Amino acid sequence: MMNLLLGDHKMDKFNVYDCSLIELNKHHSKRKGSISVVENDETIPFDVKRIYYLYDVPGGVERGGHAHKALYQFIVALSGSFTVVLDDGYVKRSFLLNRPYVGLLVKPGIWRVLNDFSSGSVCLVLASEKYDEADYIRSYSEFIQYRKQ
Ligand code: TYD
Repeated sequence: MMNLLLGDHKMDKFNVYDCSLIELNKHHSKRKGSISVVENDETIPFDVKRIYYLYDVPGGVERGGHAHKALYQFIVALSGSFTVVLDDGYVKRSFLLNRPYVGLLVKPGIWRVLNDFSSGSVCLVLASEKYDEADYIRSYSEFIQYRKQ
């Protein structure tokens, strides 16, 4: 997180470069398949309080389209593939998730859109808080205002 003021470009919030792909350890057995592990504090910098997953997403559909004020998330393509576009109001970064042993850490205050879901894909999300509608920013114009605060 940076603490700079560049013109009206206030930077006391996380930006897209604070979000990154994390490769999980992979225990592979030639005959018995693989296991990947996510542990609180070891793999990701938060304690998991909630798990949810997206599935049966029709082709061409866009999910997300919101930001969270406080929530940390770790997103994994357990099966298939999809794209996550992160946006901090100034810069966008696009991540293709297509490996069950690579996840994307999304920090608070970042707008995200998920799209290009392959048929049968499963998107696992590990979250730092329980569901709270008050933590969502669902309007992009509100998000831009929020980023300037
Ligand atoms: P939403 O977060 O808007 O989905 P996405 O960002 O994947 O498009 O959630 C869709 C609906 O599911 C919404 O009505 C709220 C509900 N929901 C819960 O009840 N609990 C949860 O933990 C989540 C993530 C969603």
